[in-house]
Amino acid sequence: MARLPHLTVEPATPTFHPGTLPLAAERTNDRCASISFFLADESATAALARHLSTRLKPGMVIYLHGNLGAGKTSLVRGVLNALGYSGRVKSPTYTLVEPYHIAGLDLRHFDLYRLHDEAEWEAAGFRDEFDGHNIFFIEWPEKARELTPQADVEVTFEILPHGRKVEIHANTEMGKQCLEQL
Ligand SMILES: Nc1ncnc2c1ncn2[C@@H]1O[C@H](COP(=O)(O)OP(=O)(O)OP(=O)(O)O)[C@@H](O)[C@H]1O
Ligand SMILES: [Mg+2]
Repeated sequence: MARLPHLTVEPATPTFHPGTLPLAAERTNDRCASISFFLADESATAALARHLSTRLKPGMVIYLHGNLGAGKTSLVRGVLNALGYSGRVKSPTYTLVEPYHIAGLDLRHFDLYRLHDEAEWEAAGFRDEFDGHNIFFIEWPEKARELTPQADVEVTFEILPHGRKVEIHANTEMGKQCLEQL
C-alpha cells in the first residue's frame, strides 16, 4: 500500500487537505480492478466518499465489508452528505434498510448484520428493490450471500491502530468504470 509523502501511518495531526484526496492508491490489473487507500481519519473517509459519490450510476451494487466500527456506515454517510443530503444518516442496524432519494438518485443503504433468514428477506420485499434503478450500499452482505445480486464494487475496510486501510475492488464493467477515475 503506497502512501503520499505527507501521510504517515501514525499521523500526529489530521492530514486532510481540502480539495485533495488525502489518500494513496495502488492500481492493479490493466483496467483498475483494485485500488487500496490509507484513510488517516474520518475526514479522509469522507473525502473518499465525495469522490465515490460522483461515480455512482443507477443499478450499481456496492458491498461494504469490514468489522464492526470499521467505517462502512461512515462511508455511506459521506456519500449522502456529498450528494446534498442534510438529514441524519442512521445506521440501518434494526430496520435493515434505509431509503434515500437525493440528487436524482434512489439509494438503498442496507445493513444485514441482523438479518435472520431468507424468509425475512422475502417478507420484507427486498427482492423487489433490486430493479436495476436503485443504487445499493450493503453492509454485511455475507449474511445474505444467496439473496443479493453480484456486487459491481466491493469495499473492504481494515481497522489499523490509527486510521483505516480500504481496498476497493471492481467485479463488473460498471464497477471498473466507477474505479477508473476514483
Ligand atoms: N479513516 C478513519 N480512521 C479512523 N476512524 C474512522 C475513520 N473513518 C471512520 N472512522 C470512525 O470509525 C467509526 C466507524 O463507525 P461506522 O458506524 O461507520 O462503522 P461500521 O463499519 O458501519 O460498523 P457496523 O458494522 O457496526 O455497522 C466511527 O466512529 C468513525 O468516526
Ligand atoms: Mg454500519
